[in-house]
Amino acid sequence: VAVTAIVPAAGVGKRMQSQHPKQYLSLAGKTVIEHTLAKLLASNYVERVVVALGAEDGYFYDLEIAQNPSVITVVGGQERVDSVLAALKASEQFAPQADAWSLIHDAARPCVSTEEIDRLVETCLTQHCGGLLAAPVKDTMKRGDTEQRVQTTVAREQLWHALTPQMYRTTELIQAIEQGLANKVNITDESSAIEAAGLPSMLVNGSPNNLKITQPEDLVLAEFLLMNEQR
Ligand code: CTP
Ligand code: MG
Repeated sequence: VAVTAIVPAAGVGKRMQSQHPKQYLSLAGKTVIEHTLAKLLASNYVERVVVALGAEDGYFYDLEIAQNPSVITVVGGQERVDSVLAALKASEQFAPQADAWSLIHDAARPCVSTEEIDRLVETCLTQHCGGLLAAPVKDTMKRGDTEQRVQTTVAREQLWHALTPQMYRTTELIQAIEQGLANKVNITDESSAIEAAGLPSMLVNGSPNNLKITQPEDLVLAEFLLMNEQR
C-alpha cells in the first residue's frame, strides 16, 4: 500500500513572532522541519513526502534533506487547507492508485514519534478507515460566555485534542476538502473536512508530547523533548 506523507510548511508563524518562520528555527541541533521530515521518513510505511512551501521560501533548498529523492516540494497557499490541497494533488500524480493513502502532518510538530505514526497507519490499514492521532483532554472543561463567566462545565470523557498526522485516502480527502471549501466549511484540519462530508474517522491515541510549536513558550518544551530523544 502506498502512503505519501504531506507536510504543510507554508505558514509564516505569526504567533511565534520570530525572525524566521518557525519551521526553520533551530532546536536540538537541527531545524524544526528537519526533525519532522526525519520522523516521517523513518516510518517504513512512508514512501515519499510532499512538502508545501511558501512561494517566497528562501530556506528549504539550503537544507540537506531537500536533496533526498523521496522528498518533493510544491508551492502552498493562503491557508493551511490550501497548502494541503496543493500537496494532495501532487501526491495523486505520483501515486494514482485508487486506494493510495495520504498522511498529513504539520511541519511544526517535530516531537511526533515514528511509533505513533506507525500506530495510526496500522489502525487505518487494518480498519479500512481514515483517522487521526488524538489525545484525551485531561483538564476539567468549561464553556464561558462573552463576559468570561462560567456557563457550563463540559463533560471531558468524550473530548480529544486533535493532533497530526491524520490519514485518509488521497482521492476521498481531495473531494472532501473541495466540497468543504465550496460549502464554506471551516476546515482547520483534514478530519473536519472528512466529517463535513459525512465520512467516518477513527481517533487513535497519540502522545500529548506531539505538540505543535505555536508560541515562543512551546520552544522550551519541544527542545527538551527532542534533546531527550537523542540520548
Ligand atoms: N501552513 C501552511 N500553509 C499556510 C498556513 C500554515 O502550510 N497557509 C502550515 C504551517 O507551516 C504549519 C502548519 O500548517 O506547519 C500548522 O499551522 P500553524 O501552526 O497555524 O502555523 P502558521 O500558520 O505558520 O502560524 P500562525 O498561525 O501563528 O501564523
Ligand atoms: Mg496558522
